[in-house]
Amino acid sequence: MHYGADYNPEQWPEEIWPDDVARMREAGVTMVSLGIFSWARIQPREGEFDFAWLDRVIDLLHEGGIAVDLATATASPPPWASAAYPEILPRDEDGSIFWPGSRQQFAPSSPVYRRLAGELVAAIAGRYAEHPAVVMWHVNNEYGCHLNFDYSDAARDAFRRWLRDRYAGIDELNAAWGTNFWSQRYSSFDEILPPRKAPYSRNPGQMLDFRRFTSDMLLECYLMEKELIRAAGATQPITTNFMGAFKPADYARWAEHVDLVSDDCYPDPNDPESFRAAAFQRDLVRSLKPDVPWLLMEQATNALNWRPTNAPKAPGQMAALSAQAIGRGADGILFFQWRQSRAGAEKFHSAMLPHAGTDTRTWREVVALGDALAALPELPAGARDARVAIVFDWENWWAVEASDHPQNGLDYLAVVQRWYRALHRRHVQVDLVPAARVGEGYDLVVAPLLYLLREADAAALTGFVEAGGHLVAGPFTDIVDEYDRFRDGGFLTQLRGILGVDVEDFGALVAPDAPAASPGERTAPFSGPFGAAVGTLLAEELRVTDASVEAFFTGGRLTGRPALTVRDTGRGSARYLATVPDEAGVQAVVDHVLAAAGVEPVVPELPADVEAMRRGDVLTVVNHGPERVSATVAGTDLVTGEAIDGIRLDPYDWRILRLPAAAATEPASGPEGAPGA
Ligand code: GLA
Repeated sequence: MHYGADYNPEQWPEEIWPDDVARMREAGVTMVSLGIFSWARIQPREGEFDFAWLDRVIDLLHEGGIAVDLATATASPPPWASAAYPEILPRDEDGSIFWPGSRQQFAPSSPVYRRLAGELVAAIAGRYAEHPAVVMWHVNNEYGCHLNFDYSDAARDAFRRWLRDRYAGIDELNAAWGTNFWSQRYSSFDEILPPRKAPYSRNPGQMLDFRRFTSDMLLECYLMEKELIRAAGATQPITTNFMGAFKPADYARWAEHVDLVSDDCYPDPNDPESFRAAAFQRDLVRSLKPDVPWLLMEQATNALNWRPTNAPKAPGQMAALSAQAIGRGADGILFFQWRQSRAGAEKFHSAMLPHAGTDTRTWREVVALGDALAALPELPAGARDARVAIVFDWENWWAVEASDHPQNGLDYLAVVQRWYRALHRRHVQVDLVPAARVGEGYDLVVAPLLYLLREADAAALTGFVEAGGHLVAGPFTDIVDEYDRFRDGGFLTQLRGILGVDVEDFGALVAPDAPAASPGERTAPFSGPFGAAVGTLLAEELRVTDASVEAFFTGGRLTGRPALTVRDTGRGSARYLATVPDEAGVQAVVDHVLAAAGVEPVVPELPADVEAMRRGDVLTVVNHGPERVSATVAGTDLVTGEAIDGIRLDPYDWRILRLPAAAATEPASGPEGAPGA
């Protein structure tokens, strides 16, 4: 179990460093991420490196028994770089420049940025590849975080290069982008621009490719650095910190290139449901690389600085969220940052060592968590515990939220997370995977809004159902190919066989958040074996060809038409849902399909604010709710070593248990005095 933080010693006089190391030892810190924003300090001028201070810091940490996750320092180029080479600065779609004075002001596709970054990485890796303190490499920092897109001339040139690689020729590009529409036909790749500001809707194929390109440019930067680190002889694992469901970077493609996934996660303490969003993020990053434990690279000990209101974490909440991460597959808990800054934009951001000192709740909680983690034994790696998967696909995310759709209010992540929350409230363990991976042993697969459906993915979903799996798909699914073009033959062209339905019309409803005065239907009530529910956003007109109708619309223009269909395949089933149910509606459908698929909770009958998650034979239970609860789980407490037979959890209390060999868990009870509530 790693424990630690970003460490930014250049923000402090050198006399402070020994105190840092002493305090780190007191807190149980095992590893720090060093040098993430140190470019200006390491390379004060082009061609001139100053490693003496970094040598001293690393040696000091090493003497103190603190390992180093060494950063490549390329995330924030120093002022000299853009003063000498203004072409490295990125531009927005309007052509405005992102100037220095903050961070991340680099055009990822700029050859000059890449040369400068490469020289820095080669120098750092060459010097420290064999340093015994260095146990991991931290490439750049949160690629794309602030600057989602770059439309600079460097991006223009790189986009043309990327398109030349992707398409056999300009005719193939024209066909893919459908450029016969609106006279957009290109006669040469040299005419193509990034989708800069234009009078009206831009070409959807171009927009989708620009998103792919953007993710690929950031990935190219990562890969360049990784190769330089390896070329210097470094053998330690290499990672770059992800940001969960971060739309601009297709982490499903990135994951194969990191030795381990590391992730930054900042749930909002003002949101009582944010622990569920955090659970989603943990399950997503675990699913990206399920055989290798991931690392919580950054979280906050307490308040942030970057939300409109930066509430403190409640007492115990930081440890509860840490236990959640471990329960969902993390092998380390790190923070931004070690010592609270005394200057700069993040001086109010909490840290392990607060500006207010060690006589603080934050410090006491930091030390207590360090003690607890130090007691944990090695936990199972690569356990596959989820019986349920939700399909999550970045390219589909980009395509389904493109403009000019029947319903332009679709928020893919929000809908996916609504399904996730419904499963989470029922204590069902979930993976989030691309459709290509649904054959990895799941009983139930949910595929909401799978608008862009590649042939291989349609085949995987079909194969899953044919092999006895239970699928819930729709609405607005199987509409376009990977270029965002309709396929011949209508909609649901690939899945209509397995689903036994066709979609005639999408039936957009006024979005729930539209101004009150907006005319039109807002909801589509429907009713089925789970009772009455409410659909939103879309109420599709289905033609049922080979399925039974489980639920009908009960109001509005589609009254009496099918809302949920099922095609039984003997062992498995394929359901199609014609609307986007609201929170309660998704819960009702989830309960129905969990029963149909025979999926059991990790621990039955826990209150919805209590989480239970499996990691092989390890069970983690966390109480995020406001009341004390008890649960009749048994095993060995992996922090205290005690044999446990039944637990009581105060708010934010948690336990990590090794289950007895039989791995049986008895039904639990809810808030005290209200068994099963
Ligand atoms: C991100 C960055 C850190 C820091 C934190 C603040 O995660 O990687 O450098 O800015 O946000 O929450």
